Amino acid sequence: MSGIMQQLKTDHRNIARLLVTLEQQMEIVHEERSADFDLMLDIMIYMTQYPDHTHHPMEDLMFEKLIAQDDSAKEIVARLEREHEGLADKGGRFLEMLRHVVDGALVERDALEEAGRDYIAFLRSHMEIEDSEAFPRAERALSEQDWADVESGMDARTDPVFGPVVADQFRSLYDYIQRES
Ligand SMILES: [Fe+2]
Ligand SMILES: [Fe+2]
Repeated sequence: MSGIMQQLKTDHRNIARLLVTLEQQMEIVHEERSADFDLMLDIMIYMTQYPDHTHHPMEDLMFEKLIAQDDSAKEIVARLEREHEGLADKGGRFLEMLRHVVDGALVERDALEEAGRDYIAFLRSHMEIEDSEAFPRAERALSEQDWADVESGMDARTDPVFGPVVADQFRSLYDYIQRES
């Protein structure tokens, strides 16, 4: 398996892990107990810094190679690329709400919960389609040269939470994951 594909699959496992935490926090919000908004904020900052910035663009490059080799993948690729934009929008909105809460502004509980649950469900179903359909097709279709092109098309940016060096900003999120796993 190419290093790129390995990285994308590892990213999915890490993201899925964070979505479980977000979902647990949403349950706490729902029950009107005190949720850990700093933790949720860290997760959503991470989502905009790594998945939106590196994981999805890497997939977009791979998807372009896929449709160049396999015309029948056009529809699914168009959908997934559209969803990358949708995820950035939904994630950005949820992130803003969390910032407001942490800053002490009033945010309606129902609206926060809806935005959080919507984001979680959307990202989960997006990753499921990639795992079950788009990734296997890419693995079948891309040549060694295609993978090399995808790799060289990305600037080297490592994961600031799950990568070799944990960014200071994400130290408490990292510690939380270590404790809970
Ligand atoms: Fe994706
Ligand atoms: Fe993905």
